[in-house]
Amino acid sequence: MEATEGESDTAERSLIIVAIDGPAGSGKSTVAKRLAVALGLEYLDTGAMYRSVTFAALAGGVDPADTDAVAQIARRIEMTIGGDGTVLVHGVDATTQIRGPEVTRAVSVVAANPEVRAELVSRQREWARRRNGGVLEGRDIGSVVFPDAKLKIYLTASPHVRAARRAGEVIDLDYGTVAADLARRDALDSGRRHDPLVRADGATEIDTSHLTIDQVVELIAGKLDD
Ligand code: DC
Repeated sequence: MEATEGESDTAERSLIIVAIDGPAGSGKSTVAKRLAVALGLEYLDTGAMYRSVTFAALAGGVDPADTDAVAQIARRIEMTIGGDGTVLVHGVDATTQIRGPEVTRAVSVVAANPEVRAELVSRQREWARRRNGGVLEGRDIGSVVFPDAKLKIYLTASPHVRAARRAGEVIDLDYGTVAADLARRDALDSGRRHDPLVRADGATEIDTSHLTIDQVVELIAGKLDD
């Protein structure tokens, strides 16, 4: 039997969702992973989903700006996003490629495509429903995917700290290149028409610039007990 709208609203509220949003390099992935372990929940990196669609488009010779063709790819793509960071696209390991410079350069255009967003948001909601909740990180989790999440966190850090963190994660790019790419992606993610990066209503903002991972995880876990 199909759930009525009222029933599905109630079901939504009973999910234990922790929504973690923020710009690149704010510490989302590290914090979300650790928090999920601490809370006994599963973790979903939604950025890896946008990256997987971008990877599939580039691998198939499709222009990331071709909105219809990329939307088609998003609807058909088979992807497995592991909680340990491994990613399979159509059964093939794409863990390294989705983090590479080609995908990183093109992903903001794909993430601005409303049809891609509609498809991935629906998959994210389904992922959480099947698990009775989870820790999801991205840009629009608290604002669009789960506006009724039990806990909404917006992580930030200064542009310098974020660029230094990202530069430490990649081996083939220097600080200046990473900082410029981060600034470009910030502008695209925050300035796009559909579901831009914003601090969701009711989200707690935490500046992680001068905090350790343990401190941030502790702060967030403490909020769940409030
Ligand atoms: O977090 P990340 O750098 O892996 O994200 C990759 C891109 O996907 C980035 O440009 C922002 C976008 N994104 C998004 O628009 N919505 C999400 N929920 C997650 C990521």
